[in-house]
Amino acid sequence: MKGICILGATGSIGVSTLDVVGRHPDLYKVVALTANGNIDGLFQQCMQHRPEYAVVVDEAKAADFCEKIAASPIADMSVLSGPRALEQVATLANVDTVMAAIVGAAGLLPTLAAAKAGKTVLLANKEALVMSGQIFMQAVSASGATLLPIDSEHNAIFQCMPANYVAGHRAKQARRILLTASGGPFRKTPLEALPDVTPEQAVAHPKWDMGRKISVDSATMMNKGLELIEACLLFDMEPDDIQVVIHPQSIIHSMVDYVDGSVLAQMGNPDMRTPIAHAMAWPERFDSGVAPLNIFEVAHMDFEQPDLQRFPCLKLAYEAIKAGGIMPTVLNAANEIAVDAFLSEKVRFTDIALIIEQSMARFAPESADTLDLVLAADRKARDVAEQVIQALSA
Ligand SMILES: NC(=O)c1ccc[n+]([C@@H]2O[C@H](COP(=O)([O-])OP(=O)(O)OC[C@H]3O[C@@H](n4cnc5c(N)ncnc54)[C@H](OP(=O)(O)O)[C@@H]3O)[C@@H](O)[C@H]2O)c1
Repeated sequence: MKGICILGATGSIGVSTLDVVGRHPDLYKVVALTANGNIDGLFQQCMQHRPEYAVVVDEAKAADFCEKIAASPIADMSVLSGPRALEQVATLANVDTVMAAIVGAAGLLPTLAAAKAGKTVLLANKEALVMSGQIFMQAVSASGATLLPIDSEHNAIFQCMPANYVAGHRAKQARRILLTASGGPFRKTPLEALPDVTPEQAVAHPKWDMGRKISVDSATMMNKGLELIEACLLFDMEPDDIQVVIHPQSIIHSMVDYVDGSVLAQMGNPDMRTPIAHAMAWPERFDSGVAPLNIFEVAHMDFEQPDLQRFPCLKLAYEAIKAGGIMPTVLNAANEIAVDAFLSEKVRFTDIALIIEQSMARFAPESADTLDLVLAADRKARDVAEQVIQALSA
């Protein structure tokens, strides 16, 4: 029986993880669940899964949550609040596995804490890895933590790697990764219509049901850009060894091309419970609740080169990883600010790439060798992106 802590339990990945956990009560016990401010969602999850700890990061909402818990049959559960509580629950002695499913930079410190504590880290929070790069990978190798990717593409690549593959190492006979992308909702939208797309149109992903931030990232293809950087780190590949492939059916979740000409692909219905169950059961397998793939319904599959004029964010991600140093951190921070501004209808859809590009232009690829340098670059890039937004709307 393994103890699991789910960081970001109330989000899309968190809910899917609890669905898988609920299918295997003999194998997993929920030790801790965390949310930012969705106290109603967290309360229901706590009633169902009975964790020992719940964390509400938003301290104002934590007081209301405590009242609800005190008046409930689970009044003996410990409730913590504030961002440091995330690190506390991610490193508890009876936590074996940490699902890192907070969205954005807010997930970095608890995910890193779990890695340093030698936990099995199921990594959905790609922003944490993009920001901290080698610092995160070194923490994993120094502590002996097990790192298993949850992003469907990286989980697919992991499954296509040789037996006993360990994340962070180059598989010698793997010459290329084919990183698939659905192309999002605007793959065929006329370029001149893109400035006017609304947040509601941008979050309506054709294949995946996800949180709002990652849905916008998918629409701009910054999600693929972040995944490109994530893949370089997880599989020790150069950016030019990774080919992004638009595959609108989202049935193949990525491929590995070997020196003998074999190309291994992992396929399945687009449902995050498959990669989650893979990582939770690894190195075994167990039921995820996902329906079997009906290959006759799929019937055919398409593959296209990404158009970098339509998707400039992908080009910016290639530039950031090739420049190195703090540039991936800057890219990620500027993207978070730009997406937030778009979702609050302060800027247009096409301004997202512009804000990131103009923010990146104000930085040089300085060292990102320590966490302090990374956090300082993150803060500064957020300020710069806010200034770019102000200048755009002036
Ligand atoms: N969704 C997918 O299919 C998918 C696939 C691959 C990778 N991922 C990655 O997985 C991560 C989560 O994505 P998601 O779609 O599940 O996001 P989501 O639905 O927006 O959920 C985000 C979770 O993070 C919590 N959170 C937000 N801000 C926080 C903060 N400042 N401090 C602490 N917790 C905070 C939220 O709590 P509240 O609910 O209380 O706000 C929620 O539990 C992202 O990094 C994403 O790129 C997602």
